[in-house]
Amino acid sequence: MSEPTGGAVNATRDRASRIAVGTAAAPTPEGDPMLPTRRRPLADFRLMRRTGVEQWYGEVMHAWQSLHGETGSGGPPQWRNLGYWTDETRSMTGASRNLAVKLADAAGVEAGCDVLDVGCGPGESTYLLQQRLASDGAARGRLVGMDITQRHVDMALARRTGDSPEFVRGDATDVPFPAESFDRVLALECAFHFPDRRAFFAEALRVLRPGGRVGLADVVPTASADAMRRRTRRLLPGPLRSRLDRYIGDVMKTPPVNLVPAREYAGQLRSAGFTDVTVEDISERVFPHFARHWERVSRSDRPEKILRRDADLVTADARAKAWRRQMDMFVSSWRMSEYLIVTARKPKSA
Ligand SMILES: C[S@@+](CC[C@H](N)C(=O)[O-])C[C@H]1O[C@@H](n2cnc3c(N)ncnc32)[C@H](O)[C@@H]1O
Repeated sequence: MSEPTGGAVNATRDRASRIAVGTAAAPTPEGDPMLPTRRRPLADFRLMRRTGVEQWYGEVMHAWQSLHGETGSGGPPQWRNLGYWTDETRSMTGASRNLAVKLADAAGVEAGCDVLDVGCGPGESTYLLQQRLASDGAARGRLVGMDITQRHVDMALARRTGDSPEFVRGDATDVPFPAESFDRVLALECAFHFPDRRAFFAEALRVLRPGGRVGLADVVPTASADAMRRRTRRLLPGPLRSRLDRYIGDVMKTPPVNLVPAREYAGQLRSAGFTDVTVEDISERVFPHFARHWERVSRSDRPEKILRRDADLVTADARAKAWRRQMDMFVSSWRMSEYLIVTARKPKSA
């Protein structure tokens, strides 16, 4: 267990060096490794390969904003997930909120629960949970958003008011809280990034109280890594295949160890000590809708406007092409993926 860094919980010392994932690459010429650099087209795979998760989220900040587009009274929405699209969903932001609600419902988040929102990004899901728990009228439990990306934690903290959740920087595979601190641990579209998802399962089990539940919204391949390789060998020509491999590993930041299909995933939770594992496949409500939304945004002038900000040394046209390449890769990869809502319970007695 490591201590939290930054945020509402006092860190006794800076533990940034202990956080192995997302170690920032060498500073950019502008000095801030978290800012998109002028020389980097959005989807230059060679450059993205060299970045860790944390820096990657700094690079794609504008891309996420362009997908949301809308600007609310408190600034642009800062969700970082693909969303759950019902027939009534009209916006990316609505879809992202739906997904957070879907996960909270599945995990049984209710008034009085102490909740850890792992991989909370800039805090949208944690603030949503706060509203939801507050609207129940009952006393709120402890609510903590945790993320590896310092910039996300800072963005979440910048919105704090008196009654806000806590936010800390921390690694899901080395959670900075004592055993049995929470009733629910949520991981909304982030566990595929972790260095090894099984290490997170062990940490979730540790910090949950007996009877507590973990809930994940997560992406897995439809088949084992070997079967995937055989399938892509059949379906995709060589250059596209290796680009797809790189896309999953280097651009989506998914370590090979996390490429396990749903059945094995459930088995890993049981091996970690969880019971009552439930798995719901919501792929059809996520991937095709998100891809269509991305396509719509690409056709509008929105990404152009937003990307132009970083495009001094790369033409707007080149950036638009890079954006489209990303989109094509995304479509190829989701056709071989499942989007799952997973829950599991820590046994009441060991
Ligand atoms: C796709 S975003 C989802 C953010 C947020 N849950 C949402 O739905 O808007 C994934 C998040 O996981 C975080 N992350 C990646 N690896 C992590 C790790 N090892 N520990 C904690 N957070 C991590 C990233 O910094 C990023 O904010």
